[in-house]
Amino acid sequence: MKKKILIVLLIMGGLLSTLSAQRSFIRISTDETDLVLLVAPNGRLYQGYLGKRLLRETDLDNFSYLASTGTGDSNWEVYPGSGAEDYFEPALAVTHNDGNMATILTYVSSETKKLNSNVTETVIYLKDRVYPTEVVLYFTAYAKENIIKTRSEIKHKEKKPVTIWRYASNMLYFESSRYFLTEFSGDWAKEVRMSTQELLFGKKIIDTKLGSRAAMHTYPFFEVGLDGIPRENEGNVLMGTLGWTGNFQFTFEVDNTGNLRVLSGINPYASAYELKPGEVFSTPEFIFTFSHCGTGKASRNIHDWAREYQLKDGKGDRLTLLNNWEATYFDFDEKKLEELMKEAKSLGVDMFLLDDGWFANKYPRENDRAGLGDWEVNRSKLPDGIPHLVKSAKDADVKFGIWIEPEMVNPKSELFEKHPEWVIHQPNRETYYFRNQLVLDLSNPVVQDYVFGVVDKIMTENPGIAYFKWDCNSPITNVYSPYLKEKQNQLYIDHVRGVYKVFEKVKTKYPNIPMMLCSGGGARCDYEALKYFTEFWCSDTDPIERLYIQWGYSYFFPVKSMAAHVTSWNKSTSLKFRTDVAMMCKLGFDISLKEMDEKELAYCQGAVANYNRLKRVILDGDFYRLISPYETNHTAVMNVSKEKNKAVLYAYDIHPRYGEKLLPVKLQGLDPAKTYKIEEINLIPRTTSRMISNGKSYSGDYLMKVGLNLFTTNRISSRIIEITQQ
Ligand code: GLA
Repeated sequence: MKKKILIVLLIMGGLLSTLSAQRSFIRISTDETDLVLLVAPNGRLYQGYLGKRLLRETDLDNFSYLASTGTGDSNWEVYPGSGAEDYFEPALAVTHNDGNMATILTYVSSETKKLNSNVTETVIYLKDRVYPTEVVLYFTAYAKENIIKTRSEIKHKEKKPVTIWRYASNMLYFESSRYFLTEFSGDWAKEVRMSTQELLFGKKIIDTKLGSRAAMHTYPFFEVGLDGIPRENEGNVLMGTLGWTGNFQFTFEVDNTGNLRVLSGINPYASAYELKPGEVFSTPEFIFTFSHCGTGKASRNIHDWAREYQLKDGKGDRLTLLNNWEATYFDFDEKKLEELMKEAKSLGVDMFLLDDGWFANKYPRENDRAGLGDWEVNRSKLPDGIPHLVKSAKDADVKFGIWIEPEMVNPKSELFEKHPEWVIHQPNRETYYFRNQLVLDLSNPVVQDYVFGVVDKIMTENPGIAYFKWDCNSPITNVYSPYLKEKQNQLYIDHVRGVYKVFEKVKTKYPNIPMMLCSGGGARCDYEALKYFTEFWCSDTDPIERLYIQWGYSYFFPVKSMAAHVTSWNKSTSLKFRTDVAMMCKLGFDISLKEMDEKELAYCQGAVANYNRLKRVILDGDFYRLISPYETNHTAVMNVSKEKNKAVLYAYDIHPRYGEKLLPVKLQGLDPAKTYKIEEINLIPRTTSRMISNGKSYSGDYLMKVGLNLFTTNRISSRIIEITQQ
């Protein structure tokens, strides 16, 4: 008997020691990356390693030394609280009921489960030993795509609410000799301009305080090169993006030891949040990839991940369309729209999209100064209402989509007259207007219902509507919520949560309707909003600017999610050039066919037919950035089908110099062993290709090692090449 007990004790001891050995580190892995977190003897959780995936599980034991130190200069605490021995930006800061501002989190437990053969979720529970504050960290690892998605949840059981004033989604640490940050900044019509700088001692913060239209000046994504400026096909690079449609903040802090800390989350500016006992504060998802072979592969991984897991209807088809915005602006009537519907059909696109200007009667929407908020059809422009237009579209054999901007209001509107208390504005100061409008207070559940009601009413009255373009033109100005009263510091966060509640309700009731996310151009482009939207509007601008803009967005978004239209901006560029630029993304037209001559129309019809034929390769293939417009006077990109049997190659001459040396472009992503035929498409009718390679066949190996002569010294010219396996 004694012997038996001894054996049981020995086995239990063995089990326990195995468990504690397992517990001393937590491994979060993709096929290419390991993130190793360590539980130190002091009970706290540290980042032990983030880098190339290790081959041997036993090598992880080597990190135990780091774990056991747990103090000193390099405290890489995974979720550091304020008031401890770390002197840098904390991930969490709480003012407890007794006024104490220190929080130190210790490890409680963790669990890892496979969500499917590719996705693993690790959940880590932490708590403060002195105050009843708890944090849960979530890490979802996508093996094949090499993506890790993280977020945190904060709660407490103190007697009264506590104030939380730092609440990061995630914190990461890096050790390298130099760090280079690429940021994306801009404004309307010049979105996502890329610039790179070296990070030296101290902090560089990228953040926004705009509330809504939050990404008007800077965008919720970044790259950090860890062994030089981020490069396309080599080098270690961190690429990260935050899924939050409001104020966000990335802090890059190089500390006293030369290590880099990257803190990502909601911008805590003016947002000390009162958290009730038991209430859970969920932070947004921070999505990152740590690439060991440059940004190109990392982008393709993000594209695959987005299509598979995040983007609304990521695997589905997309509709080509004709939008009336730049064709008519606010100046239209039924007849004009019906003509445009017929033009849409004649172009060969799937849908007609009615933009701004179709609503409001007491204060008609003749321009952007009135009517926003009054979502009744404007009877003088459209006496027979929207149902009639839906029918006209049906008669023209195209689908019908409609523009809305339901989160906003013009002060000159019936809505504002009836419900000034629904509007974010100062009660006791002069009002400042951005584009003559104000933002509705989405922290108020009644207003959330109203905004949902805008969509619901349109859909109930017009079940035939096939698409929404959902705009958001104003940042939050005159920052005061009549609903939140003395809790104004919750406005920026509760407003965005209110927006999500509306998106969620729309998605639940109308799960299959495609929607474009728009925000005065491309100021809303994040992966939380894109759970509800099939695509986003990149920019209202001319094709030359859009070459740079599309290049910039392509680092984080698949072209399938990037709406790009042919417009009349920059008429000095040919219609072919404008179309060839829009063909790179989700194609649409914002132009009347009346602006085209016969040849141009035939060209556009041919381009739409080509696009429809090649859509699967363009929208679902692998995207390669070949030649950067930032580094040369030209640019080239290509899409390759997953089967590597078809590719579409785009080449643009922007502003070449006289007599400039033109280099061949080496293609990427093809199968070296296969033979491919080269054919220039999208040619102006009755012209022939000038490419000497046109009609010839080459091995994938040749095309990738020697390349093709794609560029010319003609200003603003373009060509699209179809590449087909023989
Ligand atoms: C924003 C959009 C445009 C258009 C207008 C309508 O500026 O970016 O595409 O929809 O609103 O007012």
